[in-house]
Amino acid sequence: MTQKITWKMKWFGCFSSKTLPLDLLSHVPKPHLSRRISLSDISDPGSVSAEDISNSLIGSNLHIFTFLELKTITNDFSSVNLLGEGGFGPVYKGFIDDKIRPGLKSQPVAIKLLDLDGAQGYREWLAELVFLGQLRHPHLVKLIGYCCDDEERLLVYEYMERGNLESHLFKRFSIPLPWLTRIKIALGAAKGLAFLHGEEKPVIHRDFKASNILLDSDYTSKISDFGFAKDGLEGDETNVASRIMGTHGYAAPEYIMTGHLTTMSDVYSFGVVLLEVITGKKALDKTRGSREQDLVKWARPMLKDPLKLETIIDPKLEGQYSLEGAKKVAALAFQCLNKNPRSRPTMSNVVKILEPILHLDERQMTSLVSIFDTKERNKEMDIKEKTQEIDVVKKAEKKGSGYHKYRKARKNMHLMKSKFAYSDTALYTLKGKMK
Ligand SMILES: Nc1ncnc2c1ncn2[C@@H]1O[C@H](COP(=O)(O)OP(=O)(O)OP(=O)(O)O)[C@@H](O)[C@H]1O
Ligand SMILES: [Mg+2]
Repeated sequence: MTQKITWKMKWFGCFSSKTLPLDLLSHVPKPHLSRRISLSDISDPGSVSAEDISNSLIGSNLHIFTFLELKTITNDFSSVNLLGEGGFGPVYKGFIDDKIRPGLKSQPVAIKLLDLDGAQGYREWLAELVFLGQLRHPHLVKLIGYCCDDEERLLVYEYMERGNLESHLFKRFSIPLPWLTRIKIALGAAKGLAFLHGEEKPVIHRDFKASNILLDSDYTSKISDFGFAKDGLEGDETNVASRIMGTHGYAAPEYIMTGHLTTMSDVYSFGVVLLEVITGKKALDKTRGSREQDLVKWARPMLKDPLKLETIIDPKLEGQYSLEGAKKVAALAFQCLNKNPRSRPTMSNVVKILEPILHLDERQMTSLVSIFDTKERNKEMDIKEKTQEIDVVKKAEKKGSGYHKYRKARKNMHLMKSKFAYSDTALYTLKGKMK
């Protein structure tokens, strides 16, 4: 778990059993109204039952689970089912089906259990419920339901088979993520953020980082953890947060220094994640040399220099990336990490920039694969050729000039084979020649 910037929570005490301190009813959007409930709508302590929240979050189809149900499906929160633990508390794997509730789709789920002694608390639980209960997008993790029995506060999400991006990038024995998968993950997360920022009332995530990007079986990325999320203001207006929240290493400098919070704070955090994706290095790592501990400080100046860039690209990729693509992704990270928030791109622009990189790289990596295949085939052919060569040489010796043509052709073929390089432009040219 990375170190969080949090404030000491000032929340309206604890909810009474089965109730929440919401003044929702007067603000509850009726089914025909599309206005999203904001956390600020819930500022006055009132008392609304768990069912009322569900009714309020119309269209979200959230299920209310009992603590006993969740206890049963996790085998009494058995350590065998423990997926991990964050600031909110432990997360367990479980399985739901229509035996629990008629109509429930059979599926694995992840269950977050609020740790009452933890740094995050009820406000985060409620924020998660209010935001994720109403926001639906292919790149946001899906909230399936919640539990609010007595003092227990739990959240039930769709299960994301491949866990989070952080473990794939940094866990010592994890299989390195291929370049294209990294770009696919970054693009998916960018789409999720662009969706949040593009809402009528923009949503600022405030804790965007590699551990909050979850991955599906096919590496589709989804943003999780909305406990710190905040409604942004329209236009150029800026929220001035009275308390700074987020995670060290990912939070934007202007936000840390002045509390000024805009969607551009998320863009900065996205830039940090891009940098982690490129370098395979954590945003902050005290075990690195003093100059390299802060990834942004160390790596940002090298992003615009192609020669230096090659020295910081994740060595676990073993050169299997497209240099053209890497240069573009690096330039994008450089922009996102601009100290001046106004000079950063919007997330929808980030999507526009990343999309063609993925497609370009896909084409180029395909040609790379085809060259690898060709090399393999060439190896097999070489054996055949070697035996045939003796015959050819013998024939050529008889014919004279034909042999020179043959040597020239073979020399060209060797040139083609050795031209295998990182540069995609070279690959393109090569592919053209091979046709
Ligand atoms: N829906 C899910 N499916 C699968 N695994 C999940 C899901 N949600 C969370 N996890 C896993 O549970 C672990 C804890 O997640 P959690 O979000 O609570 O903490 P974190 O992101 O590691 O830290 P932080 O509290 O700083 O956000 C992580 O390893 C995460 O991958
Ligand atoms: Mg998390």
